[in-house]
Amino acid sequence: MLRGLVSENSLRVDQLIYPTFVSEKVDQAEPISSMPGVYQYSPDELVENAKQVSDLGIPAILLFGIPEAKDELASQAFAPNGIVQETVRRLKKHVPRLLVITDVCLCEYTSHGHCGIVDKRRGEFEVLNDPSVEALVRTAVSHAEAGADLVAPSDMMDGRVGAIRAGLDQAGFAQLPIMSYASKFCSAFYGPFREAAESAPQFGDRRSYQMDPANAREALREVALDIEEGADLLIVKPGLPYLDILWRVKEQFGLPTAVYNVSGEYAMLKAAAANGWLDEKRAVLELMTGFRRAGADMVITYWAKELASWLGSSLMTNDR
Ligand code: PBG
Repeated sequence: MLRGLVSENSLRVDQLIYPTFVSEKVDQAEPISSMPGVYQYSPDELVENAKQVSDLGIPAILLFGIPEAKDELASQAFAPNGIVQETVRRLKKHVPRLLVITDVCLCEYTSHGHCGIVDKRRGEFEVLNDPSVEALVRTAVSHAEAGADLVAPSDMMDGRVGAIRAGLDQAGFAQLPIMSYASKFCSAFYGPFREAAESAPQFGDRRSYQMDPANAREALREVALDIEEGADLLIVKPGLPYLDILWRVKEQFGLPTAVYNVSGEYAMLKAAAANGWLDEKRAVLELMTGFRRAGADMVITYWAKELASWLGSSLMTNDR
């Protein structure tokens, strides 16, 4: 009891965001081998799962789509009847209480797996910033039209937050908040996600548009730019190796800030737990405490459902 009273940080279920995958290609939940407990769902199953998420008291999901067809221009990303747009419509109809945040990126929709439109020349390649931003704006607007509550651009192209803000305003969504992946590093910890989202780049890597893990001041400059351009909420990603960034971002800017506890962080702890090398529940609660202590208002985590049942409605303590 005393421990609860004097505890400086706590985690509540209503601070969790559950990332989830919907696929146009599956009829039955398809397990992701590197992420035990995580699946690609059919739209029907996703809605069922979303009901459970909402009943557990988790306020929001972050939705990723896997289209049947990919092309160089990522056309399914902004198709009015694309997988995300259709699923959002269903979610808003059947689980209206649940906030739907859509990931706005092209990597799941491009045949080459990059987050933008690419110009390939003589074995080299270049990501074309402006055409990519244009496609991202169309994508964000199409998500808003389908009923998304927030949009989360994760591509890291220059100027995309400002362009998305303008596009949304023009389309009549001036009130719709942008949750920006303002500080996103080029990380090995996204490995399992790329299996889940089928978005591994076919050539090259994401170094030209994601940040160098060595650079903290650059990260703060990127965040400042996103805020100037109209970001309402911020995401720091990945979580575990970037707690210093999280702390600085929250201290310096004070906006609502989420940390993304990414796929690789999930996979490594799940693997250790499966081997009996770690106590999963204790380790996860400690991880979440670390995120809160480092300044996170919200945690985007694949453990959201387990956490909801571990936490119940009460506050977190580490030794429960
Ligand atoms: C897509 C995107 C990625 C993640 C979220 N959005 C992958 C990437 O940037 O390569 C990773 C999330 C995770 O690893 O859990 N742009």
